[in-house]
Amino acid sequence: MSARAQIGVTGLAVMGRNLARNFARNGFTVAVHNRSYARTESLVAEHGDEGDFVPSESVADFVASLERPRKVVVMVKAGAPTDAVIDELVPLLEEGDIVLDAGNAHFPDTIRREKALAAKGLHFVGTGVSGGEEGALNGPSIMPGGTAESYESLGPILEKISAHVDGVPCCTHVGPDGAGHFVKMVHNGIEYADMQLIAEAYDLLRHGLGASASEIGDIFAEWNTGDLESFLVEITADVLRHQDAATGQAFVDIVLDQAEQKGTGRWTVQNGLDLGVPITGIAEATFARSLSGSVPQREAAAALPAHTAGWEVKDREAFVEDVRQALYASKVVAYSQGFDQIAAASAEYGWDVDRGAMARIWRGGCIIRARFLDRITEAYERDANLPLLIADEYFADAVSAGLASWRRIVAGAAQAGIPTPAFSSSLAYYDAVRAPRLPAALVQAQRDFFGAHTYRRTDRDGTFHTDWSGDRTEAEA
Ligand code: 6PG
Repeated sequence: MSARAQIGVTGLAVMGRNLARNFARNGFTVAVHNRSYARTESLVAEHGDEGDFVPSESVADFVASLERPRKVVVMVKAGAPTDAVIDELVPLLEEGDIVLDAGNAHFPDTIRREKALAAKGLHFVGTGVSGGEEGALNGPSIMPGGTAESYESLGPILEKISAHVDGVPCCTHVGPDGAGHFVKMVHNGIEYADMQLIAEAYDLLRHGLGASASEIGDIFAEWNTGDLESFLVEITADVLRHQDAATGQAFVDIVLDQAEQKGTGRWTVQNGLDLGVPITGIAEATFARSLSGSVPQREAAAALPAHTAGWEVKDREAFVEDVRQALYASKVVAYSQGFDQIAAASAEYGWDVDRGAMARIWRGGCIIRARFLDRITEAYERDANLPLLIADEYFADAVSAGLASWRRIVAGAAQAGIPTPAFSSSLAYYDAVRAPRLPAALVQAQRDFFGAHTYRRTDRDGTFHTDWSGDRTEAEA
C-alpha cells in the first residue's frame, strides 16, 4: 500500500460519503474507509469517476494509505462511536498526525480528546461542519478547532472544499481544542431560534390573514428578496408551497406538530446557563420543541379557556410588514445572544474567538447562512470587543425601525392567544437589557430577607445585610 492519499475519511454514511466526494472533486486523493466495507465499495462504484479514491477494508490499510502527516477525518456518530474509532486509529498513527472529528461532538468531549491525543503527540481537531448533506458535497461551512499548527496543513484543504462567498472561504481556524465544536453548537442553537421565529411568523400570518399555506409561502419568498434573505426563509417558502401527494392538502398541515431534536440546542442552552449568558431566544426555541412533544400535557390543557380578544387585521399589507419587522428584530436578538455566548465561552476557556470571522464563515454553506451575517461581520470590524451586537449602530437602527411593529405583533398575539414564545421573549430581552433599572433590586432584597444573602447599594461600595427579623439595622457584611 503506497502512502499517497492526502486526506482520509472514515465513516461513510451520507455526511462522510459526501465529504469524501467533495475532497475528491476538488482534486485531493482521498483514502476512504467504513466499518462495513460494502459502503466503501458502493461509494467507489457509484462515484469513483469523480476523483481519486483509495479504498481500504481495514483501518491499518486505511492509515497506511495516507501521506504524512496523516490527516484523518472521522465522520461517525457523536459520543461512544467517535471514541471507539479514535481508539482504533491512535495506535496506528505517528507523531504529528491529525485526527479531525467532523461530527456534532459535544465540546467538553472534544477538549478531553484533544488533551489525550496531544499527550501522544497527535493533533485532534474538533471541527464543526454545517450544511447538511448538500453542504458536505458542494461546500459546507467549516469550523475547525485544535492547534494553529494543525490548521497550517489542514486549513488549505478545508478552505478549498468549503463554501465560498465573494471568493472568501467559509472556513477559518476558530481557536484551540473545543472552540470549533463549541461554535458549531452555538450555530445550531441559533438555527433552532431562527427556525422557531420563522414558525411563529408563519403561525401569525396564518391566523391573522386566514391565508393558505402556499399564500404564506409566497410571502416568505418575497421576504427572501430583502433583509431576511437566508437559506431558512428560502426553504420555508418551498415547504409551505409544497402539497402532500397523498391527500392534496398543504404538506405542512399533514406533518405531526411535534418537533424533535438531536441535542445540540439542548447543549447550547445548558452551556448558556453554565456561563450565565441569557440566550433566551435559543432557550425558548428549544423549550418550544419540548412543549410540542409534551403530548399528555397538551391533551390535558386542550379544554382550558382562552378568553381571547380576537385579532381583526384591517390592513393586510401593514400586518405582513409588522410581522416581517418583528421577525427581523427578534432574529437580531437571537444572533446577538448567540454571539454573546461565544464571547463568554471564549473568555472562559481561553479561545480568543474572532466573532466577526465566525459571522463571515457562516455567510455560506451552513444552515443559518443569511444576508445579514455580512452586517454582523461589519459590526465586529467596527469594534472587535463590541459588548452587545444590538448596540452596534447598524443593528440599533434596524431594531429601532421595527420596534413599533414588534410591539404591535407581540401585544396582538397575546390578546389573540397565539403563542409567540420566541418573539415575545426576544422583545422582553430587548426591553430588559436596555432598562436603566431592573426589578433585580427587589430580588436581591428578598434574598437578603430570607437568607441573609446580602446586597450591594447604589450609593456606596461594600456588601450589606439588614437585620430583617430584628431591629432592621444595616451592617456591612
Ligand atoms: C447543520 C445542521 C445539522 C443538523 C443538526 C440539527 O448545521 O448542518 O445543524 O448539524 O441539522 O443536527 O438537528 P436537530 O434539529 O435534530 O437537533
